[in-house]
Amino acid sequence: MDILRQARPQYKVIIYPESGHFLPVQEKTELEIGFGNGEFTVQYAGKNPDVLLYGVEISQACVLRCARRAYGLSNLRLINTDARFMLRELFPDESLRKIIMQFPCPWSKNADAHKRVTAKDFSDGLAAVLKVNGIFEMVSDDEPYANEVWKVLGGHEALRAEDFEVNPKREITTKYERKWLEEGRNIYRVTFRKTKAFTVSRRTSEEMHIKINRAVTAEDIEALRNVEGKKDNGKSFWKFGRSFTDGDRNIFLLETLTSDEEFEQKFYIHAAPKEEGFLLRLDKTADAFLTPAVRAALSDAAERLS
Ligand SMILES: C[S@@+](CC[C@H](N)C(=O)[O-])C[C@H]1O[C@@H](n2cnc3c(N)ncnc32)[C@H](O)[C@@H]1O
Repeated sequence: MDILRQARPQYKVIIYPESGHFLPVQEKTELEIGFGNGEFTVQYAGKNPDVLLYGVEISQACVLRCARRAYGLSNLRLINTDARFMLRELFPDESLRKIIMQFPCPWSKNADAHKRVTAKDFSDGLAAVLKVNGIFEMVSDDEPYANEVWKVLGGHEALRAEDFEVNPKREITTKYERKWLEEGRNIYRVTFRKTKAFTVSRRTSEEMHIKINRAVTAEDIEALRNVEGKKDNGKSFWKFGRSFTDGDRNIFLLETLTSDEEFEQKFYIHAAPKEEGFLLRLDKTADAFLTPAVRAALSDAAERLS
C-alpha cells in the first residue's frame, strides 16, 4: 500500500479522482499546481474559507507534507498526479476562477521544453478549465522563464497577458521566497486573464472490459512478462511485469506499467473467468486513469491471450 493510502484515513484532504470523471467544483473553485511542501497552500486555504482549493502535486512526499500541515482545513483537496497530463482530465471547461503556479521548475533544457507551462498541450488545458474572466498567475525567480511565459501564453487565442510585476507585494510568501528577496534578488509575477470560451479533447475514459473466448492459464499470463508495446510514435508505451494468482489459480493479476507522454502509471490488469472465457479489466485497487496507453495495454494483453 502506498504511503498516501496509509495516510488517507488521517489526512482526509488527500483525494483520489476516478478515471473519466471530473472533480466536483463550486462557484469559487481554485487550483494550485506544484504546491511543494504546501506552506502557501495551507495559509491561502485558511484565509479564503469560501474558496474550494485543489492542489495538484507530482511528488508523493510533498502531498503528505502538505496534508500534515492542512489538518482541520475543510476547503482543501490534494491530488498526487502530474498536472501537465491531468489538468484537463480533472476539471471541466470553465470551472476554475483561478490557477496559481509558484516557482515551477523552469525546465531550462530544450529536451524538457514540453514540460513547461508554455507547452501547447498544457496551455490549452489551462485555457479550457479556467472560467471566462478567470486568472492564471505564475510566480518565478527566473526572469527568462517569466519572459517566455509572458510571451507565449500572452499569444494564446483565449488568454490575455495582463500584468508583469517585479517583486510584487504578496500577502502570503514562502520561506524560500523570503530568503531569496532578502538576498536582494527579484521575483516576477505574470498574470493572464481568460477572454473567451475555449475547449480541448479529453483523453481518459471511464471503463473498459475485454472478453476473450478461451480460458487463461498461469503459464499464458506469465508468458507476457517483459512484453512491451508502443503506439502513436512512442507517445504511448506499455510493459507487462510480474503476475499473481489466487490460491485456486483462477484469477490473475498482471503488473503493468504505462506511459502517456511521460505520464506514468503502474497498475494491475485483472483477468477472471467469465462464461466459457475470461474477462480482462483494470484491477479495482489500481486508481489508474484509462489513458490511451492503458487502453492499448489492455487490448494488447487480450489479443496475446486470445
Ligand atoms: C520548485 S518547487 C516549488 C514549490 C512551491 N510552489 C513553492 O513555491 O515553494 C516546484 C514543485 O512543482 C512540482 N511539480 C513539478 N512538475 C509537476 C507536474 N507536472 N505536476 C505537478 N507538480 C509538479 C514539484 O514536485 C515541486 O514540488
